[in-house]
Amino acid sequence: MTRCALFTSDESFEPWLREFNHQFPQLNVAHWQHITHPEEVRYAMVWKPTKALFDRFPNLTTVFNLGAGVDAILSNPAVPSHINIYRIEDGGMSAQMNQYFSYFLLHFFRDMDLYQQQQPLQQWKVQPFRPASSFRVGILGMGQLGANLANHLQSYGFDVAGWSRSKKQLPGVTSYAGARELEAFLSRTDALCCLLPLTPDTLGILNRKNMSLLPKGAVVLNAGRGEHLVADDLLALLDENHLRGAVLDVFKREPLPADHGLWLHPKVMITPHSSAQSEYVPCVERIGHTLQAIENNQAPSGLVDRSRGY
Ligand code: NAP
Ligand code: GLV
Repeated sequence: MTRCALFTSDESFEPWLREFNHQFPQLNVAHWQHITHPEEVRYAMVWKPTKALFDRFPNLTTVFNLGAGVDAILSNPAVPSHINIYRIEDGGMSAQMNQYFSYFLLHFFRDMDLYQQQQPLQQWKVQPFRPASSFRVGILGMGQLGANLANHLQSYGFDVAGWSRSKKQLPGVTSYAGARELEAFLSRTDALCCLLPLTPDTLGILNRKNMSLLPKGAVVLNAGRGEHLVADDLLALLDENHLRGAVLDVFKREPLPADHGLWLHPKVMITPHSSAQSEYVPCVERIGHTLQAIENNQAPSGLVDRSRGY
């Protein structure tokens, strides 16, 4: 009989438990502190697990991350190196990311920021028309979420490019890959969308040097991780009018501290790490099938490569 431990925040615990027990009752998913024979547990479904979990279950072989990003697990020294980590691929998040980025990209493309500035001045002024094909969107990270977004944005007629470690073949999307092509990618990007995982290579990638390579008047949107962005560099480039605006969903410290300069900056729009949330039904379906594939000695996708960091 499989026994699985569930480790999540208190608020999301009940819905996860209900969904696991509804779709996969045979997995016997239970609260990690309520399991009477911890030595029998091989699998854990987790979000931001602490050392206590690994101390309690000495025979864990595999953890299933209840989100896409695994930076919090990989940076946790308490996670034994022999444990396999699987992450959520999509889990309902691609559709949400598409909505999120579409909303803010259209905001800038259709000059809504300028109309918002005009309104208190009672200024009736039509901004010049520009074709969608002249709006160059660049996506940092062309994985599950980035590649899906690139496809989606083509329906607006934008000129879409992506940057990843390996070259991609996506119809209608220009692919840039690796550190050597980053400069060319940034130089052609009016709207930079970050959907990278946080790794030692991507930490601080949204810094002054890189954001200065964007054309004057570009906008920066970050839904990757807060540590991708050097906030002081962003604020300086906004104040120097090199950048037109920024949309930030993720922060080095969350919640963003009340006294942080980003909160009240007129060119910054902030959302509370809400661009895309793991949806219980597709995530549980995915984890359940992945677990069954592992038990059948198959090699399901979603296994994190620790050497790459994602
Ligand atoms: P993924 O499928 O693993 O995709 C990662 C992409 O980043 C891949 O295209 C990869 O390139 C690229 N990449 C990684 N390191 C790189 C480097 N050093 N240089 C260039 N490209 C690099 O991940 P995902 O599912 O799309 O999720 C991406 C991230 O989004 C997550 O890690 C998480 O941080 C964030 N996220 C945020 C929210 C939110 O609510 N804000 C929700 C979900 C996810 P290759 O394709 O060549 O491997
Ligand atoms: C959320 O930020 C995730 O990584 O799923």
